[in-house]
Amino acid sequence: MATQPATIPDPITYLDHAAAAGRAYKQRLLDALDLRPEHVALDIGCGPGTDLPAMAERAAEVIGVDVDPAMVDEARRRTAHLRVDVREGDAHALPLPDRGVDRARVDRVLHQVADPAAVLVELRRVLRPGGRAVLAQPDWETLAIDPGAVATNLAVNRFVCDRVMLHPVVGRQLARLATTAGLTVTSIEGDVQLLHDFDTADELLGLTRNAHRAVHAGRITRPAADTWLAELAEGPFLAAFTLFRVTVSAG
Ligand SMILES: C[S@@+](CC[C@H](N)C(=O)[O-])C[C@H]1O[C@@H](n2cnc3c(N)ncnc32)[C@H](O)[C@@H]1O
Repeated sequence: MATQPATIPDPITYLDHAAAAGRAYKQRLLDALDLRPEHVALDIGCGPGTDLPAMAERAAEVIGVDVDPAMVDEARRRTAHLRVDVREGDAHALPLPDRGVDRARVDRVLHQVADPAAVLVELRRVLRPGGRAVLAQPDWETLAIDPGAVATNLAVNRFVCDRVMLHPVVGRQLARLATTAGLTVTSIEGDVQLLHDFDTADELLGLTRNAHRAVHAGRITRPAADTWLAELAEGPFLAAFTLFRVTVSAG
């Protein structure tokens, strides 16, 4: 095993591969948005614009917001031919007026922001009365992997939740935080995301990278990490985690 943490993948390539693996839940999220031809629709944390074209097919006006200029550039490039307006901005202070949005999605963004509760208050500010938003977030404590030692699986999860992710379990908190923000929760659903291939899971979940980091942090021994990763690579392989999807409306 290498003694240094494996390299971080290119963020845009990573998001493209994650979107391909998550095609089914993304379709369910889009269905739950129930976009109509008269709607103004917002994608908060739009990344490289993955979901903007499908929104533009269904809504009158689509706005993507992302804090990362590289993501904004790529989203603009991918949607240049569409009625999509991509803005650089922070989800905590959206570059939008009050009550101008009919539909909003927040797809795998809240684990990264400084204050998820404040972002949901901001979401409520920009939603029209009766407007709807769909929030989707994995819960990283639920990551179950086979084969290999369960203790190592749990120790790597714990390390990721303590040290890698800002808000690793915000998925299970979505409905509570949305209610506190003054939104009305209309549904709470959970998808189990399955990955059957070690190489794909290693790229998307950073298994090797995080096992190496956990060794450096003293959470697991190097032999335990080596054995775990070798058994995962040997297969047959399965990884599963819960992805929560919460639909809310503004009163
Ligand atoms: C995991 S990606 C998800 C991208 C997209 N929603 C998707 O499903 O493919 C998270 C995105 O949120 C953006 N982001 C993180 N913090 C943000 C903030 N405070 N305001 C706006 N965007 C933010 C990141 O730049 C990144 O593009």
